[in-house]
Amino acid sequence: MSSIHIEANVGEIAETVLLPGDPLRAKYAAEQFLENVVCYNQVRNILGYTGYYKGKRVSIQGSGMGMGSTAIYVNELINTYKVKNIIRVGTCGAIQKDLKLGQVLLVLSASGDSGANIAFFNGMHYAATADFDLLLKAYEIGKIKGINTIQGSVFSTDTFYDDIPNRWDIWQQQGILGVEMESQILFTLAKRLGAKALSILTVSDNILTGEAATAQDREQSYMDMMEIAFSLA
Ligand code: HPA
Repeated sequence: MSSIHIEANVGEIAETVLLPGDPLRAKYAAEQFLENVVCYNQVRNILGYTGYYKGKRVSIQGSGMGMGSTAIYVNELINTYKVKNIIRVGTCGAIQKDLKLGQVLLVLSASGDSGANIAFFNGMHYAATADFDLLLKAYEIGKIKGINTIQGSVFSTDTFYDDIPNRWDIWQQQGILGVEMESQILFTLAKRLGAKALSILTVSDNILTGEAATAQDREQSYMDMMEIAFSLA
């Protein structure tokens, strides 16, 4: 048996799945970090791999960009493949001035404008929250490995492009660290469907200042983020 957007047989996906937006990042990370790697999905080029990290079985699956695409993979991973832990690995645009490019964030909660969240809760506001066990473990792994993490909240949006003036001011004042496009629906669906979820993000740009991370910033913070995420397997 397989699902609509994933062609793996049940059993070919590990209990813990890392979820980058970019399918090619899934491919490169599988090649870079894992042993005995098998590619289990090529449907729509949204690649998925299972392998071993330091002897532990783990999968890495592209989600595509945005909450619509992410919701499809999260549903199928949990419902069909009985995945227990989903860890998003991605980037966000900072909306706090003092947040450095390349900083690794462990996401506590995600506010947002997900249409699905509005539909699920009759217009009321569910507080989309990371799983505490995964969060604590990620925090402790960061400490042990000497990787500086900041714990805080993000905003997940359906609209990368918009023409709303000063759109992020209220969220900056509310203490939101950055903006991305997946965590809110990941947290909501994982809780709804009985799995644990976490998002680990690196700051790729600053929406307020227009600064963008250099290739060097990106590489180091990417390695730090992936090391924490794979160590959660
Ligand atoms: N907006 C939304 N998502 C993002 C951004 C952004 O500026 N940067 C990285 N992910």
